[in-house]
Amino acid sequence: MSATPATVEGLAVHGGSPVRSTLLPYGRQKIADADIQAVVEVLRSDWLTTGPKVAEFEEAFAERVGAKHAVSFSSGTAALHAATFVAGLQPGDEAITTPMTFCATANAVLYQGARPIFADVCADTLNIDPEQIAGKINSRTRAILAVDYAGHPADLQPILQLAEQRGLTLIEDACHSLGAEYHERRVGSIAHLTVFSFHPVKHLTTGEGGMVTTERGDLAEGLRRFRNHGISSEARQRQAAGQWYYEMVLLGFNYRLSDISCALGLSQLHNLQANLARRREIARRYTAAFRAVPWVIPPAVRRNVNPAWHLYPIRLDLQRLTADRAQIFRALRAENIGVSVHYIPVYHHSYYRDRFGYKGGECPVAEAAYERLISLPMFQGMSDEDVEDVVKAVTKVLSAFSR
Ligand SMILES: Cc1ncc(COP(=O)(O)O)c(C=O)c1O
Repeated sequence: MSATPATVEGLAVHGGSPVRSTLLPYGRQKIADADIQAVVEVLRSDWLTTGPKVAEFEEAFAERVGAKHAVSFSSGTAALHAATFVAGLQPGDEAITTPMTFCATANAVLYQGARPIFADVCADTLNIDPEQIAGKINSRTRAILAVDYAGHPADLQPILQLAEQRGLTLIEDACHSLGAEYHERRVGSIAHLTVFSFHPVKHLTTGEGGMVTTERGDLAEGLRRFRNHGISSEARQRQAAGQWYYEMVLLGFNYRLSDISCALGLSQLHNLQANLARRREIARRYTAAFRAVPWVIPPAVRRNVNPAWHLYPIRLDLQRLTADRAQIFRALRAENIGVSVHYIPVYHHSYYRDRFGYKGGECPVAEAAYERLISLPMFQGMSDEDVEDVVKAVTKVLSAFSR
């Protein structure tokens, strides 16, 4: 598709007719009749929570990602908290993470009373830069939290090597990257602990939900206790053994995922491959179309990586444009394209600024990217016409603002 010259007056934001008559969201779940049926069956069963669907979902999930253990949680955030807990983070410790993420990643460090230290990202993928991590490790460092931004795995090989050399736990926040591959290995089987989210915009949804995968049995056991008040056995185990006695051995939470949610997750797992295939096709179409749109820098894909495409974040070549990201964002929304921005660097949030004294300028690569980022719609249910509408709207808006 070639760039169609447009005028600022023709933009919907200035009263022109929009590319679409209805809003295309940036993400949306896909629920099949089989998913609904699976949930209804649980509603009619004896176990709404702590029942058999939990283990069934966990086992199927572990097998799908190639992990030994999978432990479900009530959200990705709860799963991250459990990961920082079993990694042993405590007050006085530090954990190195990326600013280019949802605040939940860094918050999980704070929940344990430890301090998140932000390392800048690589300019191409916007994933945490292994060299920047190396420069931040000191005697207080206990963990690294890498995030697979937009579904493109972080550079896990050097990060894992660094973690193992320095005795640190690598937690991979894979909330964007279920189904991604890195050097022919599946995300979920690489880091010490890998964390997933099942929020509706993700590849698989349970409404709210999350999972941690690990190869280590001791960590899996710690995760299970942490999500169940710190109690050493689960209700169904006690019922099966005819026992009433239980013991709380550590301070945990109720972070359990119900059987209702697990039944939905298990059913959704059957759709995962189709979801990934469609997202990869949409990404291919976007990237091919944007070759002809000079103001757009499409997301980079490194060799030996197969991203899961949770997001499709473009960067604007602002030097060639007369408008900034905020104006372009508004213009795209007026064309009825549900764009979004991922992410405000975490330490820009007032909580982080006020508590830790961040002034800006700490991670210049992430900050420069943030000024230019716009996430385009990306979800399984998008039709080819929807993809074309997005390309048309981006081309219309950017050509109108071109220098
Ligand atoms: C990178 C990242 N980490 C963590 C989370 C938190 O997941 P949840 O919403 O399931 O708590 C999200 C959610 O969007 C996320 O994008």
